[in-house]
Amino acid sequence: MSTAVHDRLSRPLRSLRLSVTDRCNLRCSYCMPEEDYVWLPREGLLDFDELARLTRIMVGVGVTRARLTGGEPLLRRDLPTLVAELAHRTGLDELALTTNGILLAELAMPLAHAGLTRITVSLDTLEPARFRAITRKDELPRVLEGLRAAVDAGLAPKIDTVVVRGVNDDELVRLLDHARGLGAMLRFIEYMDVGGATHWRGDAVVSRAEILARVTAERGPAMPIQDRGSAPAESFMLPDGQRFGVIASVTAPFCSACDRARVTADGQWFPCLYGRRGLDLKGPLRNGASDESIAELVRGAWEARDDRGAEARAALSNREPLVPAHTLKRDPHLEMHTRGG
Ligand code: GTP
Ligand code: 5AD
Ligand code: SF4
Repeated sequence: MSTAVHDRLSRPLRSLRLSVTDRCNLRCSYCMPEEDYVWLPREGLLDFDELARLTRIMVGVGVTRARLTGGEPLLRRDLPTLVAELAHRTGLDELALTTNGILLAELAMPLAHAGLTRITVSLDTLEPARFRAITRKDELPRVLEGLRAAVDAGLAPKIDTVVVRGVNDDELVRLLDHARGLGAMLRFIEYMDVGGATHWRGDAVVSRAEILARVTAERGPAMPIQDRGSAPAESFMLPDGQRFGVIASVTAPFCSACDRARVTADGQWFPCLYGRRGLDLKGPLRNGASDESIAELVRGAWEARDDRGAEARAALSNREPLVPAHTLKRDPHLEMHTRGG
């Protein structure tokens, strides 16, 4: 493992989230609630060689784990080819992927064979009508099929559930039961006021405390387990042994342990989910810069990093959506679906 570069708050750069497309085949209300979107120009998207080269450079400055994201990453053509390249020829210890699951039934096995080590599937409800209301698509059966295929392919999926008051907060235990049936770890995520979440309201957030209280009321006390290290989820165990997680980005942000940076599909590098300005890496990748000079650029940017986006938001007394919809249209890089969730 190479020596990690540290930022101004002594946080190492270890984890890379690589968005491979800004497109998505769902329109989740907490992420893509608008009628239309401004997409990244196709010619600007990094190709597989550029993505592999960038990952190798990142490994050289200390990155050990990468996660492919979108939009919806399975929409990127020939994804297993990219996965094979990244998994076997970049020096990463771990390669994961976050998906909405729609295309997973066909792709779980090819991805596992290509060397994907872990997968996370988003699932907010088990009710078809509710799924349609949340995502504007009728795809619950395919997502459930995809999840099953991921289990069968040995990918040991995790399930991520964004909890929104009045939308799916009455379904927590049912979702936990479903996860238990699959042997999958479920994590409840507090609804965040990130870019894209233009309909966010403080009173729609169901806090970690409330999530735990609801689960405890039906399933018994949830005992905290293990130190979370740099992972955003805190883990809990129920009396029957089932484990689950809570990602409390709103009420208990984990910025002090954040070791992740994200690259958009067109090569902009953002050191924080809430960050306004990215560092252009596509330019240097395409205009003949050496690997060493790009590594220097990344090192310098990480050493200058002092972002604590979620903590800064939590300190605000009057909290509104991070970015208004018209600003997102002018700069789609501020969108959550562009910078990879
Ligand atoms: P592994 O530990 O690799 O399993 O994944 P993870 O726990 O890091 O999960 P992942 O990176 O997919 O993040 C899960 C969820 O946490 C995301 O979908 C977001 O809702 C939230 N999240 C991820 N990254 C950040 C971040 O940098 N800041 C904040 N506040 N929330 C984040
Ligand atoms: N709040 C919390 N999580 C979000 N995601 C997207 N938007 C939000 C939001 N406003 C995350 C969810 C989803 C993944 C793709 O991105 O985890 O499952
Ligand atoms: Fe939903 Fe993920 Fe697509 Fe956003 S990127 S609309 S969270 S499936």
